[in-house]
Amino acid sequence: DPVLRDLAAAKGIYYGTAVTASKLTGTYASVTAGQFDSITPGNEMKWGSVEPVRGDFRWSGADAVVDFAEANGQKVRGHTLVWHSQLPSWVENGSWTADALRTVMTDHIATEAGRYKGRIHHWDVVNEPFNEDGTRRQSVFQRVLGDGYIADAFRAARAADPTAKLYLNDYNVEGINAKSDAMYALVRSLKAQGVPIDGVGLQAHLIVGQVPSTLQANIKRFSDLGVDVAITELDIRMQLPATEAKLAQQKADFKAVTQACVAVARCTGVTVWGFTDSDSWIPDFFPGEGAATPYDEGFRPKPAYYGIAEALGWS
Ligand code: G3I
Repeated sequence: DPVLRDLAAAKGIYYGTAVTASKLTGTYASVTAGQFDSITPGNEMKWGSVEPVRGDFRWSGADAVVDFAEANGQKVRGHTLVWHSQLPSWVENGSWTADALRTVMTDHIATEAGRYKGRIHHWDVVNEPFNEDGTRRQSVFQRVLGDGYIADAFRAARAADPTAKLYLNDYNVEGINAKSDAMYALVRSLKAQGVPIDGVGLQAHLIVGQVPSTLQANIKRFSDLGVDVAITELDIRMQLPATEAKLAQQKADFKAVTQACVAVARCTGVTVWGFTDSDSWIPDFFPGEGAATPYDEGFRPKPAYYGIAEALGWS
């Protein structure tokens, strides 16, 4: 079988996967290490995982992912420092003044990004700040701190780890639409203010047969703004059961997304959100849907895997 990490390297990009730290043994570990040159902890670096109770830090899952990556010559995408979800309730439900919450947020960034300083390729500094219509999501950070929390978060991340590339990440921003227009306007304004942002992450939680036709043009417009672009959470779900026809369409879709990244110089790489159907969030969140990743539940490569390889020049 082709080796995605080698094919990607020859094209000047990385190919990554989200992982679950507790599963990194046996075949799951050998495919992760053999096929991918970047990994992202699916949950282990989120605020609720690392500091569920104020001052009580749990780093074992995050440490395990970073150690695994270093043992296998892989990069790590750190995910994520500031997000409205999987927040500990002491943050989400605290009664904060703006100064107090800003300090809690920047201390969190300093602590976590500082712990892994020099060992993280990309940090998703701020995740999912927009509503679908392009307005700001009313997270606790937005409500208490206002629009400026994003700039403050990026400055704190740069101070904590000057070598990590700093990303703004969101979903439903793969094509050109109201939400990606808002992201574009924000990136332009952050750049104009000298805020240290290096890249945008397009999550790409897609549906079979529905890769946005404007994906490559959208990647290009962000890169023309002077930031890198990454596909950060690619999966392509379908209504179950999977049929040969759906799996063939899914192959074409994984190939198209990967080709769009290869085609734009500032697209740095692609991460799939779980490489196997046995490690995917889709069945839990979309009842009746699944089969969204390039390997089946028994770690056998699906047509989608060969679609990725073909986009990376394999034949
Ligand atoms: O760890 C607990 C376990 O102790 C408990 O028994 C079990 C029962 O529900 O839940 C476990 O926690 C789950 C956790 O995943 C780890 O498996 C949470 O319920 C579940 O909500 C959580 O889902 C994660 C989801 O983010 C939460 O929003 C998914 O694994 C993770 O893949 C998903 O990832 C997000 C990205 O971070 C951001 N973009 C969207 C993407 C998909 O939702």
